[in-house]
Formats: sequence, C-alpha cells, structure tokens
Amino acid sequence: MITQLGYIGISVSDTKRWEWFATQVLGLQVFNRAADGTMHLRMDQFHHRVVVHPSGQDDVAYVGWMVPGPSDLKALAERLRANGVPYEEGTEEEAQARKVVNLIRFQDPLGVTHEAFYGFLVPEEPFHPGRPMSGRFVTGTQGLGHIFLQTKSDAETEKALDFFTECLGMRLSDFIDFEVAGQKVHAIFMHCNPRHHSLALAKMPQVDRRLNHFELEVESIDDVGTAYDVCLRNAVPLAATLGRHTNDRMFSFYVQTPSGFAVEYGCGGRTIDNESDWVVQRYTSTSIWGHDWGQELTQDYLRKVRGRAG
Ligand SMILES: [Fe+2]
Repeated sequence: MITQLGYIGISVSDTKRWEWFATQVLGLQVFNRAADGTMHLRMDQFHHRVVVHPSGQDDVAYVGWMVPGPSDLKALAERLRANGVPYEEGTEEEAQARKVVNLIRFQDPLGVTHEAFYGFLVPEEPFHPGRPMSGRFVTGTQGLGHIFLQTKSDAETEKALDFFTECLGMRLSDFIDFEVAGQKVHAIFMHCNPRHHSLALAKMPQVDRRLNHFELEVESIDDVGTAYDVCLRNAVPLAATLGRHTNDRMFSFYVQTPSGFAVEYGCGGRTIDNESDWVVQRYTSTSIWGHDWGQELTQDYLRKVRGRAG
C-alpha cells in the first residue's frame, strides 16, 4: 500500500507572496516555474514536494501518496474498487505534469482529491535550499512531512478514518482530545511509515477550508530557530508559538501562510520504528509546553521588543 506522503498541491491566490514565504521562511527551493505561475518547490532529491498553483482557493488541491512500484499501484486500485471507491487512471500528460511514471486519482469522504503514484523524478542537480540552512529536511522514507485535514463533524472524521485505514492501509497512531475556543476537538493521527503521522484529521471549530496545516521537519534545531527569527523580523503572523507536542514529541511552531492555513515547522519528531511494539494511546493536550494559539503574536512581540528598546 502507500509508503509515504510524496507531494502536495496547494491552490493559492498570491503566488508572489508564496514565493517569498516558501524560500525565505521555509527554506524551500523554487525548482521550476511554469508560464501560468505554477511553482514546483523542492526540499530533497525529488523534483518537488509542494506544488503551488495560482488557482486561488487557498486550500489543498491534491495529496500525492507514493507506492513502491507498478504492482503496488495496481493492488491499491483493486483495493479501492473492492471498497466501492471510484478512481481514474492518470493520463500520460498528467503523469508528466506531476513528474511521475504513473498515477491514479480518487477522492476521500471529505471531497479532497488524492493521487497515488510511483516513479518520482530525481533531477541530476542537487537540492539547494531557498535560504541558508544548517541541516537538511527530514524526508527519505518518512515522506515530505504531514498534513492535517479539517472535518465538519466527528462522524465525518470517523468516515475518513475508515477510508484511510481500509482503502489506503494507513495505521492508527493515537488520539488527542483537546479544546479550541471552548470547543471539544477529537483529533486522529495516522501513519504509513516511521513518521509518527503523515495524516491527521479533526473537526475544527471553523472549517472554511479542508487544509488546517501541513508540516515540514528539519534535522537541525537551528533551522527551526532561523525560521522563527525570519517570521519575527518580517512580522509574519504566527499561528502558534514554539512548543513540543505530546504525541509525536515534535519541537515546532506554526506560521500562517499567505493562504491562511498554517505550516508547522519543527524538528526532533519521534518515529514508529517497530510496528508490532506500537500501542495506540490517547492524550488530552496537544502539547507538553508552548504552542500557544493566538492571533497577531508577531505584532505583539514586535510591540514589546520595540517598547523595551524605547
Ligand atoms: Fe502538525
């Protein structure tokens, strides 16, 4: 079945702002820019991991899951058929646009488009980060990071959980029951490789888009600090301060993208190395410390710093 989160496509309204954000805040490389403004963002040996489309929805456009090869793609298609999930075979042009050998496309119960593919393009040129970095991104067998999709009800979350476990073969990592803005949130975390979660689902208080955030992990804590500095110095609004999560132990912060959804940027996430030892647990808080969610944190910080400087 699927082995990693291979790529994501996002639909944005401000590609210019996204280019600055992706390179200067996140450290991604703009590897390819199409005439229509589509940007392929690179973070490792593969041609891209994030594709920015100027189609204006400010939400996830598609989620690409990697399978090892042709027989695995066939097996996945058969599993979808057995579960009554319609899928389309990707055309040659579509495969070329995604820089893969072959793909299929289908939708989850939330209406989000997913693709499964094999044969990702590895260009000759090495990855070159968009700004200086102390280390590299943690990808490899763990994929590009994770995505957090928002649902409209707990029933929808359960339906989506069934879909991802039954049809895509994902495995449950754990649950977190917490509160946001006085509302109870039941979050579900799933994995398909040693990364603690490649996908999370929860009903959130305000669902105006499907993508809550995507996450990128770096090897060095200094790169988390550098990204944090870039946000503070350029008044890029944070969605949450630095903190460490209870379940995956990620040391991270959340920054608001030009599209309104967030990016979690962190290091030191724990991995699930031995599936047979893994026990599903339940937490009642997202974080051991930090991750204060609030608006305009950067503005407050700058006001304080400037105030102190007199
Ligand atoms: Fe996250």
